[in-house]
Amino acid sequence: MPLHESICYRDGTLYCESVPLDAIADAVGTPAYVYSAARIRANAARLQAAFAPLDAAVHYSLKANANLAIIRLLAALGLGMDAVSAGEIHRALHAGVAAERIVFAGVGKTPAELAYALEAGVGWINVESRDELHLLDRLAAQRGTWPRVALRLNPGVHARTHHHIATGHAGAKFGMDASTVAAILAQRGATPHVRIEGLHVHIGSQLGSVDETLTAVREAQALAGPYPDVRTLNIGGGFPVAYRDGDEYPPPEAFAEALRPHLVGWQAKLEPGRSIVADAGLLLISVLYVKHQGNSRFVIVDGSMTELIRPALYDAQHPVVPLRAAPATGSTIVAGPVCESADILHRGAALPTVNPGDRLAILVAGAYGMTMASNYNQRVRPPEVLVEGESWRIVRRRETWDDLLRLEESDTERGSLDPVPDT
Ligand code: LLP
Repeated sequence: MPLHESICYRDGTLYCESVPLDAIADAVGTPAYVYSAARIRANAARLQAAFAPLDAAVHYSLKANANLAIIRLLAALGLGMDAVSAGEIHRALHAGVAAERIVFAGVGKTPAELAYALEAGVGWINVESRDELHLLDRLAAQRGTWPRVALRLNPGVHARTHHHIATGHAGAKFGMDASTVAAILAQRGATPHVRIEGLHVHIGSQLGSVDETLTAVREAQALAGPYPDVRTLNIGGGFPVAYRDGDEYPPPEAFAEALRPHLVGWQAKLEPGRSIVADAGLLLISVLYVKHQGNSRFVIVDGSMTELIRPALYDAQHPVVPLRAAPATGSTIVAGPVCESADILHRGAALPTVNPGDRLAILVAGAYGMTMASNYNQRVRPPEVLVEGESWRIVRRRETWDDLLRLEESDTERGSLDPVPDT
């Protein structure tokens, strides 16, 4: 099990730091996300230490988990933020992050989003097409600003990872191919209001090999080589985490070691998301019913694909464990209540005999869990709890049925159903 000192059993009871998870479930109900602040800090510190010899700036990828409490915690450790929408920029600013510490990336930024980023004064904008570059140049000229830009290179490297999270191969929608990047660099005078000072490569998430990242970085360096003022390399995120026992992945130190000799004279940036929050979070759920069908034991739980879509979307395997340790009695299908055959949280969980009311935890759920949660079937999104040592607090409350009505009823707090401009 990918348990560690911050999420582990003590005397047969599952704890997050010094808090028994049963106590949190008693207080807030299930399903509920629970995060360990100590583990988030430790993960961030490990990345910072690994890349310290490279003098790399770490920008946390907000898409992995954008809870305000987590943003604040990471900003306090000195991390910048990687945003992929104006909504994420807005959230980071609201959390108190300085605009110049935000990198704005994304393949399809709208004119309104770019204008918002310029007016907020974000530190870097990663540009992914010629059209975007020209639009940004115009918007910057209108505002009298000179944004710092990194061109996102699609290096033609096919990362060995799930096909939904590989981004660096020819045929992927992300970035620009080498010839386009080379042409833009050669004609920088055509866009005088952008300062092209860096290149960006992100070849995918949950990367299985250091070599592919190195190949991508070398390709970017070859393109930037002739331009001495283009010396920032945004290497992206993608550092992998173990979801299952026996998962073997290169640790962040291996990426840092491999990159180090190549980055002398370059300013490096990173955008990790998953590796900072994934194993710091879990989803608490309760058993509703147990039934046997065909040759399978089904445990129907109160959590579903609306809280954690990764198993349905990527065949991701998140361990499911009981809050009270007991020997496994067989392979179990853990299924949610949503009216979709894909609403299976685990197909072969090694669980003990469980009964209605028993609680389980789905591990390694801190990244791309809550941020990808939905209201499908009119399910309310769950609360989020942050544990710090012996204390814990709700950092996002459970939604209510009224929350779900609010955006459609004109007599509630917005007062009108008029379109909201610029969002
Ligand atoms: N930078 C860029 C440009 C990205 O596209 C991503 C992730 C990251 C950084 C952060 O990658 P990380 O360090 O978290 O691997 N929903 C999927 C993952 C999608 C990743 C999208 N981009 C999942 O649940 O596995």
